[in-house]
Amino acid sequence: MLKIDKKLLKSDFGKAAKSYGENAKLQKQVATILVQKAKGIIPENAYILDAGCGTGFIAEEANNFWDILQVDISKEMVEQASSYGQAQICDIENLPLEQGSFDGVVSSLALQWCDATKVAGEFHRVLKNGGNIVISTLGKNNLQDIKSLFEDVTGQNRFNDYLPKENLKDIFEKAGFSDVKIESETLIYQYNSLKNMLKSIREIGASNKSQTRKKTISKAEFKELERRFNGVASWEILYIKAKK
Ligand SMILES: C[S@@+](CC[C@H](N)C(=O)[O-])C[C@H]1O[C@@H](n2cnc3c(N)ncnc32)[C@H](O)[C@@H]1O
Repeated sequence: MLKIDKKLLKSDFGKAAKSYGENAKLQKQVATILVQKAKGIIPENAYILDAGCGTGFIAEEANNFWDILQVDISKEMVEQASSYGQAQICDIENLPLEQGSFDGVVSSLALQWCDATKVAGEFHRVLKNGGNIVISTLGKNNLQDIKSLFEDVTGQNRFNDYLPKENLKDIFEKAGFSDVKIESETLIYQYNSLKNMLKSIREIGASNKSQTRKKTISKAEFKELERRFNGVASWEILYIKAKK
């Protein structure tokens, strides 16, 4: 399992919070898709938890539809999110919230930074019976071409590894959820250089936070990576739906 350096996670997302809104194009697109999917499942006026809310993309789109409590581990993200409604700082692996208090839980692109077993258990605990979750996360094939390119040139895996769909399904079922459905979608983004692609990840605070991440890459290696980069990044997004 991916071991996340949480101190680094808080610090990176904290630093990115102010400019996240203008940089996080993929995250905005995914949050919009997630809200559309969730509106078909979680009824209007329901009390919803947005877990790992970031700057509040979900509440920005849906706070007229649901009553939303936003939570995030980063103080700076919570400060931004509070302009769209209630927001509090907490770790979604250990929610300081009553059991059975929400009609639904939504979460966009936060689960991949967490211990999925702990998060699935917490989502199950805070949901009312009959409540639904709708979550997006990154899939195992995320940025596969770029990952392989880095492995080829540097001999190291320099990107986070994500869980396969089957493992996630198993984790949510073991947490007690039924009707666990996971859809995968690939979103293609184009970049004029590898440098800019990596910058776009850094600017939203989402660079590698594995406790075993490698630190250096030589100039020659980077030149070779840039030469072989084909300008395309394929993001594999998983949408998980389930019922308590
Ligand atoms: C890529 S951002 C996505 C934010 C937002 N959901 C969106 O769609 O823009 C990931 C967010 O998850 C938060 N996060 C990561 N691990 C967390 C944890 N254990 N508890 C709470 N929030 C966490 C980060 O602070 C960050 O704001």
